[in-house]
Amino acid sequence: MNNWINSIENFVNEARVRPESKIVVFTGAGMSAESGLSTFRDNGGLWEEHRIEEVASIEAWHRDSSKVLEFYNQRRRQLLKVVPNVGHLAIAKLQDQFPHINVITQNVDDLHERAGQKSVLHLHGELRLARSTGPSEAVFSLAGSELIEGDLCPEGFQLRPHIVWFGEVVTAFDKAALLVEDCDLLIVVGTSLAVFPAANLLNYVKLGLEILLIDPEEPSFNAKASIYHYPLKAAQGLEQLAEVLMSKGIK
Ligand code: OAD
Repeated sequence: MNNWINSIENFVNEARVRPESKIVVFTGAGMSAESGLSTFRDNGGLWEEHRIEEVASIEAWHRDSSKVLEFYNQRRRQLLKVVPNVGHLAIAKLQDQFPHINVITQNVDDLHERAGQKSVLHLHGELRLARSTGPSEAVFSLAGSELIEGDLCPEGFQLRPHIVWFGEVVTAFDKAALLVEDCDLLIVVGTSLAVFPAANLLNYVKLGLEILLIDPEEPSFNAKASIYHYPLKAAQGLEQLAEVLMSKGIK
């Protein structure tokens, strides 16, 4: 374990992290795995049990909206039972010492927010929001876990999960790319980097910037920038990283 902390320390020293540094933490399903939420592509992951084209596409919604709604109701029921893990809390704590820290997440859960993270950009939508299928595309908070057929927006249109399905445009991508382009430190946590355009965010870092990745597995994605890979779980890796970073932040 000490070996990792030394090498994280070296990485942070070389990155010349200062209190005013702009830090982006880019997270995927592995970030929430230790809270008890399933990832998608690991053994036993969600896409082993469910077919993407049957639950996470606009075609699926038109074909069988009840099935799609039930898939996300299940996700919401699980989400309401879990809490942020020490990894989420470690990132949130960094805000005390690094005022310019932003989280970009592919996750549709709200565990970063519940850990106290102030700036969270959701690339793939949010489970606890519903969206009108009418022209307004107005977005509403969901109080509980269930969204069912017949739940309408005030204009009378069916509500759908506020999720970016496969084949839909990732409208938050441009904002995310600007944050990455401008950052001094990019920390990537718990993502297979198998989904685009999200994975492509890594190609927006400044020339010469090295990316730090915390994930037990080696990613298959070939980023233009070099990636410093720590094969650790999110909680352990982020706790160690936060300890090192806190010594560089505002005293
Ligand atoms: P994946 O399921 O593709 O990848 C999960 C990653 O988490 C893998 O690289 C694992 O090695 C890693 N992992 C597992 N346990 C971990 C732990 N305890 N700590 C850290 N890492 C761990 O999930 P994503 O990359 O997030 O999109 O998937 C991207 C998108 O694909 C999702 O946002 C979702 C999915 O289809 C939509 O539904 C639109």
